[in-house]
Amino acid sequence: MTGTTQAPYLLRAARGEVLDRPPVWMMRQAGRYMKAYRDLREKYPSFRDRSEIPEVAIEISLQPWRAFQPDGVILFSDIVTPLPGLGIEMDIAEGKGPIIADPIRTEAQVEQLRPLEPEVALPFIKTILQALRAEVGNQSTVLGFVGAPWTLAAYAVEGKGSKTYSIIKHMAFSNPSLLHQLLTKLADAIAVYARYQIDSGAQVVQMFDSWAGQLSPQDYETFALPYQQRVFRQIKETHPDTPLILLVSDSAGLLERMAKSGADILTIDWTVDMADARTRLGKEMIVQGNLDPGVLFGSKEFIRDRILDTIRKAGNKKHILNLGHGILPNTPEENAAFFFEIGKQADQLLAVHA
Ligand code: CP3
Repeated sequence: MTGTTQAPYLLRAARGEVLDRPPVWMMRQAGRYMKAYRDLREKYPSFRDRSEIPEVAIEISLQPWRAFQPDGVILFSDIVTPLPGLGIEMDIAEGKGPIIADPIRTEAQVEQLRPLEPEVALPFIKTILQALRAEVGNQSTVLGFVGAPWTLAAYAVEGKGSKTYSIIKHMAFSNPSLLHQLLTKLADAIAVYARYQIDSGAQVVQMFDSWAGQLSPQDYETFALPYQQRVFRQIKETHPDTPLILLVSDSAGLLERMAKSGADILTIDWTVDMADARTRLGKEMIVQGNLDPGVLFGSKEFIRDRILDTIRKAGNKKHILNLGHGILPNTPEENAAFFFEIGKQADQLLAVHA
């Protein structure tokens, strides 16, 4: 039997192998659109419990695995999960996202941040990743993830999500050296954390710089890109063979700059036509994405056509099929199932619909 001893599909694609069809997984594939998740959420109303009690987090990661057999199984966690380990207390509020009660605004606060000791602060991550690897074996690829320095700094400084990023931009443009100190500390902690995830079983790591698209390209080059590079460089020093993915939301104006981050794979959101992304990034760059998550509210035929269109535009190689961002909470589960089905049959379907 093939496929059981070979490296799993997503890992092979992430290493640059050319395959018959793109591997397929979905950002936020575990979560609120699944009834099984909503049921478990009633029993464990706190997000930190759901993501930090190993049995619960493992179960949540495996819900979409059992339902759809995606080519990637992602750790159920959050980008702010490591912050308490640096001394930044946080909670994740229902419908709101991360809340930091005592946001970082002063030099004294930045100085007090501790280096991350993941074995001490995040022992549950090791348990979760080891269990996921044991469960999926060579049938799927286990992904870890981290937040990027700019995006984690945005939460740490603003204290919560923001529409305008006024507080962190105030810091960036009036006291840049303070922000650079914070970004440096975060970058080093994130690299340590990513290495720990890899040592615990993550085979691919995705870094989310979700809010870096809120920066002008010039400021992206000052406050986001050098710290993405710092994290990726440090990971590659010790783990050169682990593929690294970068996501930036609203990144249409930044693709060429993202390509300088050191990531092996770039996530493309749906504001960019995949054919344009391919032209702008070249044939060799591995791209991931990029369906509008809203497409999953359409008919089966519509979903199928958009998937095949995306695969063709990516050139049907060096591509990981995904949404351009997380699946939306009210998405019908059968449409999520259909997304995976079509992705897995793409080689046959593309031949038929050519
Ligand atoms: O893909 C997966 O299955 C892993 C799940 C995952 C979560 N957070 C779980 C979660 C991932 C990859 C993240 C990363 C994350 N967290 C990002 C980067 C990705 C992106 O969206 O750009 C960001 C910006 C955060 C911060 C955060 N945490 C937000 C904005 C929210 C949503 C607030 C809301 O309720 O809409 C959270 C909470 C959160 N993290 C939820 C989930 C499933 C929702 C809470 C719940 O299910 O009760």
